[in-house]
Amino acid sequence: MKAVILVGGFGTRLRPLTVNTPKPMLPLVGTPFIEWMLTNLRDQGIDEAILCVQYLADRFRTALGDGSRLGMKVHIIEEPEPRGTAGAVKHVAHLLDDTTFVFNGDVMTDLDLQAMLAFHRAKQSQLTIALTPVEDPTAFGLVETTAEGRITRFLEKPKPEEVTTNMINAGTYIIEPHLFDDIPANQHYMFERGLFPSTLQKNHPMYGFASDAYWTDIGTPQTYLEVHQDIINGKVRFALPGSQIKHNLWVGSNVSIAADVAFHGTVVVCDGAQIAAGCVITGPTIIGAHTRIGAGSAITASVIWQENHLGPDMVVSHSVIGHRNHIAAGVKIHNSTIISDDTVIAGDNAFDRGVRIWPGTQVAAQSISFS
Ligand code: GDD
Ligand code: MG
Repeated sequence: MKAVILVGGFGTRLRPLTVNTPKPMLPLVGTPFIEWMLTNLRDQGIDEAILCVQYLADRFRTALGDGSRLGMKVHIIEEPEPRGTAGAVKHVAHLLDDTTFVFNGDVMTDLDLQAMLAFHRAKQSQLTIALTPVEDPTAFGLVETTAEGRITRFLEKPKPEEVTTNMINAGTYIIEPHLFDDIPANQHYMFERGLFPSTLQKNHPMYGFASDAYWTDIGTPQTYLEVHQDIINGKVRFALPGSQIKHNLWVGSNVSIAADVAFHGTVVVCDGAQIAAGCVITGPTIIGAHTRIGAGSAITASVIWQENHLGPDMVVSHSVIGHRNHIAAGVKIHNSTIISDDTVIAGDNAFDRGVRIWPGTQVAAQSISFS
């Protein structure tokens, strides 16, 4: 069975992490999210995936190729310009001839796809949307259904006073191929504001498949950190990399950890990482491949990508550090700070309250402090 994955977005809410890395390629515990997603689809019976790419398209080509490494067929198709969610599918419709799954490429879920397909067939649905409950539907597509699941209304990004249910579009669809004829060609067109409302108006049967599967949109710094906590706490199926050497510690190959380093909570140390004497690492934390942490540093509930040189005597808590940064002794990084890639940060700086440091930034000593 074939699936289309929408991965063309700019990942604006995750900038500057997404300046060099498209959102679906962001590492989750050291592996690009899209690889987890493709493997999950493959394990659930999808053998061919068409990725609709736009922003930083080459990153997908280099990482995934034709998909053979992952044991499935992958096509990477670039739009000439962003065509919107439905316009992107129209652009690849020549590859589709049967009932098709469509996925938003920034949603982590272990939804049972065969159960959803069985529901779609049992209801003789033309278009089925997976639904999930959320606390605040205003950032999503609100979906009203009858008790049998037939969709009666779809409202993208409702205003607070328009919220009538907590069930939202979870970003997984099953679509009958004749509906691709209803998407205008060569123009920007959205499922959420175009095809869904117009299919409802035509009275074609559209159903919502509600489930209590794990579900998170990884599209904000907050949810990106939360997904890591959920993975590490075992809330979603995910094979942690490396070997489990203690009940709370997973390490990759060629790792060097000084004898007195203390670990609390669950920590993953990826291949080639080095952690010097006297560090205290508190989970859920991921230390990326070939990252070096100097002596006496304290890292808490943070995600650190590859090839960083940090410390000594640093403090990092509840923050994300991207690729190849050089951060000097004594720097303090707190509270949802994002340091992206290739920065050089001299000593005696302190970052707090969601500050975001763009790629290539150089910060001189004692120039940033929050106290
Ligand atoms: N190829 C391509 N071209 N992909 C696109 C384009 C485009 O022009 N625009 C968006 N995408 C991709 C994004 O990369 C993302 O994977 C997906 O489509 C959804 O776009 P977002 O920008 O993440 O939308 P959202 O999170 O605000 O809302 C969507 O997802 C919610 C669930 O997470 C909507 O589908 C909501 O209805 C839904 O509730
Ligand atoms: Mg999204």
